[in-house]
Amino acid sequence: MALSLSQCRKSEPIYSSSSVSFKPTPIVSTSIFPRALGIPDLPKDNPLTEEGVYLGRLLFYDKLLSANMTISCASCHLQKNAFAEPKKTSTGIFGLPVKRNASALFNMAYSRKFFWDGRQSRLANLVFEPIQAHNEMGLNLPELDDRLKKSELYQNWFKKAFNADPNIGQMSMAMEQFLLTLVSSNSRFDKAGPSLTGLSSSEKAGFTLFQTLTNLQGGQNQGADCFHCHGGILFQAQNPLAGGITNNGLDASFTDLGAGAITGNSTDNGTFKSPSLRNISLTGPYMHDGRFQSLNEVIDHYSDNIDFSSPNISPNLANHVSGPGGPPEQMRLTVTQKQDLLNFLQTLTDSTFISNPKYSNPF
Ligand code: HEC
Ligand code: HEC
Repeated sequence: MALSLSQCRKSEPIYSSSSVSFKPTPIVSTSIFPRALGIPDLPKDNPLTEEGVYLGRLLFYDKLLSANMTISCASCHLQKNAFAEPKKTSTGIFGLPVKRNASALFNMAYSRKFFWDGRQSRLANLVFEPIQAHNEMGLNLPELDDRLKKSELYQNWFKKAFNADPNIGQMSMAMEQFLLTLVSSNSRFDKAGPSLTGLSSSEKAGFTLFQTLTNLQGGQNQGADCFHCHGGILFQAQNPLAGGITNNGLDASFTDLGAGAITGNSTDNGTFKSPSLRNISLTGPYMHDGRFQSLNEVIDHYSDNIDFSSPNISPNLANHVSGPGGPPEQMRLTVTQKQDLLNFLQTLTDSTFISNPKYSNPF
């Protein structure tokens, strides 16, 4: 039995989709993207609007997008963890395991390589992977289309955003719009500015280590050289060739081939995307398989445990030598250097990003 309209009106007005109007509010890029990061190249065929972004946000948080309605995108991408999750690897529908660690989600408008192996270049295409993956959300697209078309909520919001009935294509566009608006640039490091005002001497020393070549002299390191692969204002190398997708010396042989499984080139085996180090203290465990629980373990890896026998190891790591032609050596940071580096990495946390109500669960 349907409720009568008068009963419903007591709490909230009920719209029939024919009475919802199409007057989308364009979003001006400069209102979302800060000057420090620059204005990204946005997809020309998917202009951001308030209504489109809100529809995308609804979809991101809606369990309707999984076969048994138990899992949403936000089940594995938690705002309080900068949209990563505090688990080694993810668990999807029916408790099925996912082989990789969930990525953090922010500043994706500046990127053209998504997933640990860089296999997707456009967010509007990417969203179909988790929805359909049997071990993530496990839903087929005809069923999803049907569910959206039957939902009054989505009838209204598709009308407002696209002047259309719910459909799979514009669903993915709306999700892309929401994902593009996830911007994080308000860490203590950002507020400190180029002169690092207000940072402690240890944090400043950590930044210097981060930005300085290792250049072992007499076995003594000069810096920790993190910037090659995690450098620039995004703290992430964008060019896949220049450290964007590379091998950081984790293993001598690979259970996960990374980009090699996508390209089929053996020279790409064991290469993965270098993630942004913004918000890094919120996004552990670390690496594609979540093998390191803490940032201390990550720093120990780069300092003491690089596996130089790893096929395809980046030249930027293999060039840690004491003299010309010498064998590669560990950089061996001192206890103080490790602490400085850790303290610096913690200045990259943006607490306003994880509390921004525009990104939170709208239900
Ligand atoms: C079961 C957990 C799970 C669910 C549900 C899930 N994801 Fe993910 N997400 C992951 C994992 C794991 C990765 C890394 C996968 C890989 O690299 O192969 C990832 C990676 C991503 C990335 C790549 C980010 C980058 O910068 O490379 C995006 C974007 C993303 N997910 C968006 C979504 C959206 C949108 C949804 C909902 C439609 C979703 N995810 C649902 C676990 C999940
Ligand atoms: C040669 C390029 C390269 C250099 C130099 C490098 N990294 Fe990385 N980093 C990577 C890659 C590639 C990954 C992802 C590897 C994987 O998951 O298999 C990574 C992953 C990480 C992660 C985990 C990120 C996450 O979200 O799980 C942290 C933290 C990190 N690096 C910190 C550092 C620090 C600190 C330094 C300097 C001491 C450094 N990196 C130097 C390439 C590099």
